[in-house]
Amino acid sequence: MKGTNLINLPMKRSEINCKIMTGSGLLNNPELIFSILNIKSSNVLILTDDNVYNLYGNQLEKSLRRLVKTVTSSVIPSGERSKDINKLSGFIKPFLQKNLSRNTVIISIGGGVVTDIGGFISSILLRGLKSVYIPTTLLAQVDASIGGKTGVDLWNDNNEIMQKNMLGTIHNPSLVLCDIDTLKSLHQNEILNGLGEIVKYHIGWGSPTLSEMKIISKKDLVNNNSNKLISVILKCQKIKSEIVSHDPYEISGLRQKLNFGHTVGHAVEGACNGNYSHGQCVAIGISAAAFISLSKGLIDKKKYLRILNLIKSFNLPIVADSLKIEKVIDNLKKDKKDGKFVLINDIGKLITNQAVPEDLVIKSLENIIR
Ligand SMILES: NC(=O)c1ccc[n+]([C@@H]2O[C@H](COP(=O)([O-])OP(=O)(O)OC[C@H]3O[C@@H](n4cnc5c(N)ncnc54)[C@H](O)[C@@H]3O)[C@@H](O)[C@H]2O)c1
Repeated sequence: MKGTNLINLPMKRSEINCKIMTGSGLLNNPELIFSILNIKSSNVLILTDDNVYNLYGNQLEKSLRRLVKTVTSSVIPSGERSKDINKLSGFIKPFLQKNLSRNTVIISIGGGVVTDIGGFISSILLRGLKSVYIPTTLLAQVDASIGGKTGVDLWNDNNEIMQKNMLGTIHNPSLVLCDIDTLKSLHQNEILNGLGEIVKYHIGWGSPTLSEMKIISKKDLVNNNSNKLISVILKCQKIKSEIVSHDPYEISGLRQKLNFGHTVGHAVEGACNGNYSHGQCVAIGISAAAFISLSKGLIDKKKYLRILNLIKSFNLPIVADSLKIEKVIDNLKKDKKDGKFVLINDIGKLITNQAVPEDLVIKSLENIIR
């Protein structure tokens, strides 16, 4: 296994201990899961989606069967629509067999949709099972798999408005196994999706650097630049795990920084009917946060334009097309009752807890919706 790195994510509470391993060839060695966790399990559950099952899930299932007595997979339809509380019991049903016990391990292999749902299931099934994530999208490797936030969405009665991650828990997996080889099969749009979060880390924390980020848009990235890719992923993981370890339950306010671009981003995501990916919505949300920061005099026009140009240079959107502004406002009101935003002073300098008057929020939305 070349270029493998193990990060330990120590939490303030000693009972929370999450190991993150990032490298190449990890999926070929599923025994790693049990040796790193130092456990023996006779029953493993796999949650995955239909795309990932065909690419990697069935392979994992077969190799796990050589290591443990029972392996049961629940294969869910791919996409955000699966993150629906009404569909959850159907996803759990295959897991409800006689071997299910407190020693059962649940492995979620897939993108952020799968790890969010799998994490949620692992936190409620038998009141909590050991959870392992194998994130297979760039977005899930740099962001969604870290920090312990799990959850599903809530839809209104006529299935028009979705409230993202309305129902969820904070339940850390014991292990996150990031195999960069799985990124080889990702569609370019999904690389772009992950880039949305990587751009967030760059703008908010100044890391990874611009030149490191540029390699992500390169073709044959995984084959030609695997060490650089691992290094970019690690930098993002380190920022997130460090913050999360100091504020695991989002109480001190530190963790709020990670929501940079997400306040408006989530509201756009809930109103866009899947026309924009999560990463694209975050980019649009950063553009709105930058506009508010400019209007409040926190940044000057030059810095504002620098942020917008940076987003655009990675082919990410700074505005959203064909969106009903009322829907976005509605989502924002439901999601963000305190009216506080994460704003920016400079690249690498975020400021939390910023009160923004409603008329300025609306102005920022008018600015990002075409
Ligand atoms: N918990 C958190 O802290 C957190 C943070 C950020 C995002 N999220 C959540 O993550 C979700 C988005 O995750 P995502 O962008 O990974 O989307 P996703 O899970 O829907 O995956 C995107 C698509 O890629 C496919 N796919 C996955 N891995 C693949 C691979 N290796 N090769 C080819 N195709 C593959 C999937 O089947 C799917 O069609 C959102 O629901 C968002 O709310 C959670």
